[in-house]
Amino acid sequence: MVAIARILLPAGRELLERRFDLAEGGLDADREQVLKLVPGAAAIVADPTVPVNAELLDAAGDQLRVVSNFAVGYDNVDVDACAERGVVVTNTPDVLTQATAELALTLTLAAARRVSDAERDLRAGRWTGWDPAAYRGLELRGATVGVIGLGRIGGRYAEMVRALGADVVYAGQATKPEYERELGARHLHLDELLQAASVVSLHARASAENHHLIGRRELDLLGPGGVLVNTGRGSLVDSDALASALQDGTLGAAGLDVYEDEPHVPQSLLDAPRCVLLPHIGSASITSRDAMAHLAAENVIAVLDGRDPPSRVA
Ligand code: DGY
Repeated sequence: MVAIARILLPAGRELLERRFDLAEGGLDADREQVLKLVPGAAAIVADPTVPVNAELLDAAGDQLRVVSNFAVGYDNVDVDACAERGVVVTNTPDVLTQATAELALTLTLAAARRVSDAERDLRAGRWTGWDPAAYRGLELRGATVGVIGLGRIGGRYAEMVRALGADVVYAGQATKPEYERELGARHLHLDELLQAASVVSLHARASAENHHLIGRRELDLLGPGGVLVNTGRGSLVDSDALASALQDGTLGAAGLDVYEDEPHVPQSLLDAPRCVLLPHIGSASITSRDAMAHLAAENVIAVLDGRDPPSRVA
């Protein structure tokens, strides 16, 4: 039996139902329901909202062989607990790179050009006529864009902003010679990047080390002309610090797709000016979500057939 903790789109579900009995929790499955769903499962299909920890693994039982996470990020999965029990963990990389990079670019342009504020004003009847001084924002051509985490998604985003004429700088543990060669990207320490860039886009993996990687001090370095974009994980940013930096004008603008305690969005961010907020839709293109579902199913089938899965995390 394969337990789908919440739902799996037909592109993946149909592959699985040809081969296995399925148990599906549904979109609104709460923890108790998920715990009741998994006993006896050979595979669990999870997603970023489903904590896969010792409790869930033990509820599933010893026959569990694979946790297939419907996401590239797997911070919801206790990989060590899976390894201890001999359970393979897989994710869905690559197929969502373009969609997520496009969304990071969307947020970059929307925040830099104050699109949310302008649209809100228009809808509320506050637009009184064309004003040469209103809603002036930042152009990407000639701007310096800092990418934190120049991996697959960060790299694709860097190519996009470079194509619009931005200079690219990046921070992260490893240097990326291919991007230095192809895009002229320069590797900087985090503080140098925050001082050099007008836009900073976060693509680092969530971990204990980079929890609140961006806090008050870092936002001050980015400064009143700076734009912060986060399509990675909410835990990378101290949201209280971000909201107050937007309120007091020490940060220019922000574009967020992810939050510290989803689906809760702090009131301080909802109230903050110059802030574009989206409900975690980075990978939500039709192409990408179908491909993720397909890959999540292929990962399950491969492990249960005794083969190496296409995208194994651990
Ligand atoms: C991921 O894949 O990690 C995303 O956050 C889900 O869209």
